[in-house]
Amino acid sequence: MGAILSSRLDDVFHIGNGVGANRVGGTPEEDAACDLVASWMEEAGLEVERDERGNVVGRLVGERPELPEVWTGSHLDSVPEGGKFDGALGVLAGLEAVSAVGRSERTLAVVVFRDEETGCHGSRWRVRHGSLPGAFVELHVEQGPTLARAEAPLGVVTSIVAYARREARFTGAPGHAGTTPMAARDDALCQAADYVLRVRDAAAAIDGAVGTVGILEVEPGAVNVVPGSVRLTVDVRAPDAPRLGRLLSELGLEPEPIVQAAAMGESVRRVLREEVERLGLRAVELPSGAGHDAGVLAAAGVEAGMLFVRSLNGGVSHSPKEHSSDEDVALAVEVLTATLRRLSSR
Ligand code: GLV
Ligand code: MN
Ligand code: MN
Repeated sequence: MGAILSSRLDDVFHIGNGVGANRVGGTPEEDAACDLVASWMEEAGLEVERDERGNVVGRLVGERPELPEVWTGSHLDSVPEGGKFDGALGVLAGLEAVSAVGRSERTLAVVVFRDEETGCHGSRWRVRHGSLPGAFVELHVEQGPTLARAEAPLGVVTSIVAYARREARFTGAPGHAGTTPMAARDDALCQAADYVLRVRDAAAAIDGAVGTVGILEVEPGAVNVVPGSVRLTVDVRAPDAPRLGRLLSELGLEPEPIVQAAAMGESVRRVLREEVERLGLRAVELPSGAGHDAGVLAAAGVEAGMLFVRSLNGGVSHSPKEHSSDEDVALAVEVLTATLRRLSSR
């Protein structure tokens, strides 16, 4: 990747950096990343809009501003101790690509959607309250091993999985850790532990499904007290709504709300495929197991597409070990630039 993109990625990564990226949605670190990127947008001559939810849209106004706009971008928030590329790469590569395309027939924009990791809140707000583009292309790291296994630097996303997030609570009887006999205990954490394994087994039994318990809150939370209550989170995903519904029902969880699976728009997919092939690469098509703002826009009727960059280190993501090579990122920027050029001049 180019020196500017690489140093900007480092600059964003180092905001609030301890172990990995720490720019959780709604924190001053996410705000600081947005301010920094907005200043780079202005430097590049883009007109910067900040909506009431904090989403940032940097526009290069086209020769025919009355035509539907073409956007690229992603998010700048991260999970705690996240990777350097998730979200930030799509924003910064998008800025580079829009600058490379320059003024076109249609208005081109780079968007930063707020608070993606906890449920695509910024893009959902925008869909309800703001203007949307006609087309959206999100460049993102794959966050899985498929492209590396296929020895392909780039991939074109077919669809984004359906998912749902829930909480479950378990109540027991708090008591003294030294004097309450084992047979007399009602330990809430033991109930929760059984449930965590149920999530694992139920997801493993459904083709393409996954289930994760990522947060456990144990009360009263003392070394010498039998746990009296536990709250945990459940994140479940599946390639389609029927399979997700089966998983929710097997876990005794409410069937609604769910985020429906979102198919990527055929015309953007075709342009991405053609531009990948123009570089002499195989256009591998694959579904996304991660949620993305592109899915929210697609569900709202925007012609949306995603270009994936191969993830290295076994495809690990949501981890400081997340990595993609400079060479693969450079190819992705080339494909994104060519794709935006075509979409903004048709
Ligand atoms: C976002 O990264 C998600 O899929 O959880
Ligand atoms: Mn992401
Ligand atoms: Mn993420």
